[in-house]
Amino acid sequence: MLSQQELKQQAADAALQYIAPMLDPAAVIGVGTGSTADLFIDGLAKYKGMFRGAVASSERSAKRLADHGIEVLDLNQVDSMPVYVDGADEINAQLQMIKGGGGALTREKIVASVAKLFVCIADESKLVDVLGRFPLPIEVLPIAREAVARAASSMGGVPAIREGFVTDNGNQILDISGVSILDARSLESALNNIPGVVTNGLFAIRPADVALLATQSGIRRL
Ligand code: 5RP
Repeated sequence: MLSQQELKQQAADAALQYIAPMLDPAAVIGVGTGSTADLFIDGLAKYKGMFRGAVASSERSAKRLADHGIEVLDLNQVDSMPVYVDGADEINAQLQMIKGGGGALTREKIVASVAKLFVCIADESKLVDVLGRFPLPIEVLPIAREAVARAASSMGGVPAIREGFVTDNGNQILDISGVSILDARSLESALNNIPGVVTNGLFAIRPADVALLATQSGIRRL
């Protein structure tokens, strides 16, 4: 029986195999955040010299990339990216995701939006029929925290402030539980329209293009 850590390693290895043909001296790779993305970064280091560099979705990932000697580029220096690789907190069969467990959702969504392909890597425990068991993170401007929390409550959610956490952008995170998300695209749009919301952790309007899910019997590709 493989541990969750071993499954994450398998997913990261599968992503490296998947993106290897996309590497060339001009290629800039989009890199996500989290424990699975960390394993991907460690593996990417073995391909150093075969691609130009990476854009990171967090300070944490930027540091890990730099520690491996991989050039970290600012997104503003980059016109296009063949691929963005990141984990997820939940993913459904439509490849819609909840992300932001690590609090990096805003930069993740921005970097992913520039990439041609979004490759989600996860262990099979992240695959769900209906999104929403994992509390949905929302990054809010601090001034708007309570107003957004009230708006989320009026939509049926139970908001909780992520105590002591500040995002890379200097904002706060509200985690919304108690919502069974049947129409993820509509909810993503509705949450985006609440004043003070920077980003919500639904990745449904722009879902992943490929999911590489590690199972006890190998990689399942969706
Ligand atoms: C960070 C994220 C991560 O992708 C998500 O939390 C999954 O993390 P892990 O790979 O550690 O399970 O969205 O903001």
